[in-house]
Amino acid sequence: MRVLITGGAGFLGSALANHLVRERHRVWVLDDLSAGDPASLHKDVSFTRGDVRDIPRLWTLLKGMDCVYHLAARVSVPESILYPVEYNDVNVGGTVSLMTAARDAGIKRVVFTSSGTVYGEQKEQPIKETARPNPRNPYAVTKIAAEHYLSAMGALYGIETVILRIFNAYGPGQAAPPSHAPVIPQFVRQALGGGSVVIFGNGEQTRDFVYVDDVVQALIAAATAQAQGLIINIGAGREVSVKGLVRGLEEILGRRVPSLFSTTQDGGVSRMRADISLAQRVLDFTPQVTIKEGLEMMVAHYQRLLKEETTRRAK
Ligand SMILES: NC(=O)c1ccc[n+]([C@@H]2O[C@H](COP(=O)([O-])OP(=O)(O)OC[C@H]3O[C@@H](n4cnc5c(N)ncnc54)[C@H](O)[C@@H]3O)[C@@H](O)[C@H]2O)c1
Repeated sequence: MRVLITGGAGFLGSALANHLVRERHRVWVLDDLSAGDPASLHKDVSFTRGDVRDIPRLWTLLKGMDCVYHLAARVSVPESILYPVEYNDVNVGGTVSLMTAARDAGIKRVVFTSSGTVYGEQKEQPIKETARPNPRNPYAVTKIAAEHYLSAMGALYGIETVILRIFNAYGPGQAAPPSHAPVIPQFVRQALGGGSVVIFGNGEQTRDFVYVDDVVQALIAAATAQAQGLIINIGAGREVSVKGLVRGLEEILGRRVPSLFSTTQDGGVSRMRADISLAQRVLDFTPQVTIKEGLEMMVAHYQRLLKEETTRRAK
């Protein structure tokens, strides 16, 4: 396959790009590097720095592609509350630009990474794709709006579209900026640093954490599966509470990890568990990595980084 990945220098995009290249596919990446890092890409990935809203740039890159993965986006919920205009411009505007250019370039299929956050608070768990979306922050709104553009423009222009609603992905290589770090890398760093982990809300809230390699498997299947026009949940199909993550870390580290509870920030929706039966059926998707194994790999990864940092400082 010849594949273009927008946002391909980011956490999920680089994991996908590197995996595809190792399987001998030809991979191009377009990324403006607002968050991504081209150093994370295998040397055989063709990298272009640019904005996904730049239609002429897309025309050049899209020629001859078999599939486009559209991952480029601003991805932080708290940041989206501060900068909704920018989030709308990139996440919605970028999708409209991509679909316009894909029409002109005669692209057959676009795979889009939407998010489980579009569901918001849902009584019925696990959450099925048929649940009525309840986006409660600008990031989630941009994702559901982009989904609608993708479906509508895809149908109008004869482009196959596949939408994956990814729940909480995690893994080594995930950016963890201090202002809005995702919970797993944040906790692992705080715990390894010997301090307390900071829990937003009461810690009883659950999330469906899915390991990066499992997400990559789903993305790869989505390029060729009989899945056109579908919206498909991608998660582990299990829920783990925030307090449960702390207990998991305590088991791995063999010591107590003290918790502090922040009263200034709420913990978000109370439960998130994906119903992944559609993914199992259509994408042959079976998550392989348990939360215990995933946390162990995260701990090993951050221990390695800390060791490298200590050696660098000592020189
Ligand atoms: N990581 C998760 O848990 C998760 C869950 C659900 C959905 N998603 C979606 O998956 C995709 C990838 O997320 P990620 O976790 O890898 O985040 P990420 O921030 O690591 O990757 C996003 C990439 O998009 C690039 N980008 C941002 N604006 C751009 C623009 N205007 N033009 C070109 N590139 C631009 C960034 O530089 C970055 O490399 C996003 O669309 C995100 O919404 C991620």
